[in-house]
Amino acid sequence: MAKEYPLENLNIPQHVAIILDGNGRWAKKRMLPRNMGHVQGAKTVEQICEDAHDLGVKYLTVYAFSTENWSRPPKEVAAIMKLLRNYLKDCIKRANNHDMRVRVIGERGRLDEDIWQKIEELEKSTCENTGLNFTIGINYGSRDEMLRAMRKMGEDIKLGACEVEDIDEKLYESYLDTAGIPDPDLLIRTSGEQRLSNYLLWQLAYTEFYFTDVLWPDFNKDELYQAILQYNKRQRRFGGLMEEPKV
Ligand code: IPE
Ligand code: IPE
Ligand code: MG
Repeated sequence: MAKEYPLENLNIPQHVAIILDGNGRWAKKRMLPRNMGHVQGAKTVEQICEDAHDLGVKYLTVYAFSTENWSRPPKEVAAIMKLLRNYLKDCIKRANNHDMRVRVIGERGRLDEDIWQKIEELEKSTCENTGLNFTIGINYGSRDEMLRAMRKMGEDIKLGACEVEDIDEKLYESYLDTAGIPDPDLLIRTSGEQRLSNYLLWQLAYTEFYFTDVLWPDFNKDELYQAILQYNKRQRRFGGLMEEPKV
């Protein structure tokens, strides 16, 4: 019988962001090549999209490849890119079957042309879907995102499309890759590391953090539910004095 995950009286985070980490260590523990960890990790990503949706999460954003990950050995980078290619290819069908809207954040210029074309196709073909809003960080780095946003804003100011005096949080956010996506309520990082590694630095300003030792390929619905239970014990104050914890 399928395990029950009681949701009554729970405050389900609208947006969960995940730093999926530990693929390499998962493989090493099994004496497998690192790439097998990435293969298994990609399967976990597919499953967790369904699980998050089942639990009532509306937005899920995962970090798949960072601007810093290019510094890994070329063989590993090539293997991850190959996996991404296959993942994106299957994703269109799966996303449409699950009514899932997929977006990709990150800088596309450094990706091979067929990859960014697949990304555009995927975004276009799922943009009307109303189920889970799933976002993937590919060649994503928060500092790079912020610099690109500033450059774009500077161009618009030069063109007279906006004024320096117009710059506020709302306008700035409209230039970020995450424009239109609410800030994450809960950030999960697997594998025991406790750092942001250049992920969503602006967007995580008031997010609750949850760290677990579980390696990403072993992450599952149980673990996600545990994170949501922990989230419900937090008191979010946003600088004020509000919101009592629900449990
Ligand atoms: C996360 O797993 C996936 C990527 C960063 C692409 P890692 O590859 O970082 O796994 P560990 O940290 O070496 O175990
Ligand atoms: C963060 O994981 C990036 C992704 C999950 C894509 P890393 O494994 O690259 O992070 P560091 O190097 O340990 O900080
Ligand atoms: Mg890692």
